[in-house]
Amino acid sequence: MSLIDHNTFSLQLLLNRLKIFFSYLTKRNQVPSIPIEIMVEVTNYCNIRCSMCSNPIIKRKKGYMSWDILKKLVDEIKGKAELIYLYGLGEPLLHPQIIEMIQYCKNNNLRVGLSINVTLLSEKMSQKLLNSGLDYLIFSLGGFTKETHEKILVNAKYELVHKNIMDYIRLKAETKNKLYTIIQLVYLEENKHEVNEFVKYWKKFKQLNEVRIKPYVNFDYMPKKIEPNKSQKKPRCFYIWRQAYIYWDGTVIMCCMDADNTYPLGNINKDSLYNIWNNDKIRTIRTLHNTGNVSKCELCSVCNLSQFSRIIVFGISLFDSLTVKKVLPKVEKIYFKFFRNKMFDKSFKKNIMKIR
Ligand SMILES: C[S@@+](CC[C@H](N)C(=O)[O-])C[C@H]1O[C@@H](n2cnc3c(N)ncnc32)[C@H](O)[C@@H]1O
Ligand code: SF4
Ligand code: SF4
Repeated sequence: MSLIDHNTFSLQLLLNRLKIFFSYLTKRNQVPSIPIEIMVEVTNYCNIRCSMCSNPIIKRKKGYMSWDILKKLVDEIKGKAELIYLYGLGEPLLHPQIIEMIQYCKNNNLRVGLSINVTLLSEKMSQKLLNSGLDYLIFSLGGFTKETHEKILVNAKYELVHKNIMDYIRLKAETKNKLYTIIQLVYLEENKHEVNEFVKYWKKFKQLNEVRIKPYVNFDYMPKKIEPNKSQKKPRCFYIWRQAYIYWDGTVIMCCMDADNTYPLGNINKDSLYNIWNNDKIRTIRTLHNTGNVSKCELCSVCNLSQFSRIIVFGISLFDSLTVKKVLPKVEKIYFKFFRNKMFDKSFKKNIMKIR
């Protein structure tokens, strides 16, 4: 299976990526393009509770994205954005129109990704997802054993999740489907002793293209499990140039770290995404980043999301977002093999070295 997506060779999309890169490089607070990656929270309802996720404790209203909001967004971004994630802080399979939404995005030449907790992945749903044209699918688990999995993903019965994955693997093999599938867990104190077994077990299935151990991220308002990075020398963040996040009701926020509407930028019901992405509110945040004042932004000051060097940002800008999304976990493994990172302790470094 080729890792490089066709969109990498589109001149128009390359131009958009380079515009974003140069705006970042030259420290402009305006971006002459809409974000090329967009996270669309189709719902913030969830049927389970995960210990590391802010979904169970957010206070903002719950709901489902309407067809009109999705259509308005897609009609504006088609031909310019590359990758749309149809998930945010909630379980996307709860949305009754999720398959139609995937197909609408695909019909408008967008690449589409989905991440699910697997509890709602019936055989029928597996078949629909496999036939939907989706570009990648993530299965989120909590651990290798039933005990650890259910301790972290409360209400996600391990036997059900395991059966659903096995049915999916069988269907994918029978239909020779190529949907890029990732199985992952977030690295936590509670599951770190099972990482090796998790990787060893799941990598046996060739219908699962990647087994990923994802770094833990401090979401806003979460009990802090790791030291927030409050250093004065925080690097500039590329996400506020490249990637936007939209709540189910159309509210645009600056990034996925704003779980509870701390700093709303605007609403796509009232304005275009392009205008919102260049309004005073987001430009103020970019200026803080451009002038070495990252820590003056409340959200950024406690954010521990890994940042990239300028050379990596340039490299990323040469490839389309889907390719980057597929290659990133592979680069991550090499990176953590050679460099120490505060987010992981020694045992993680040891474990990651054994990952294929
Ligand atoms: C927020 S969930 C939403 C989609 C879906 N409900 C799911 O669980 O896949 C998206 C991904 O974020 C991961 N996640 C949740 N909390 C996290 C945290 N604090 N740090 C890093 N990843 C986290 C989940 O494991 C999941 O893979
Ligand atoms: S990680 Fe996904 S499944 Fe777990 S609580 Fe958050 S939104 Fe729900
Ligand atoms: S909170 Fe983190 S990801 Fe969001 S803009 Fe700030 S530094 Fe970037």
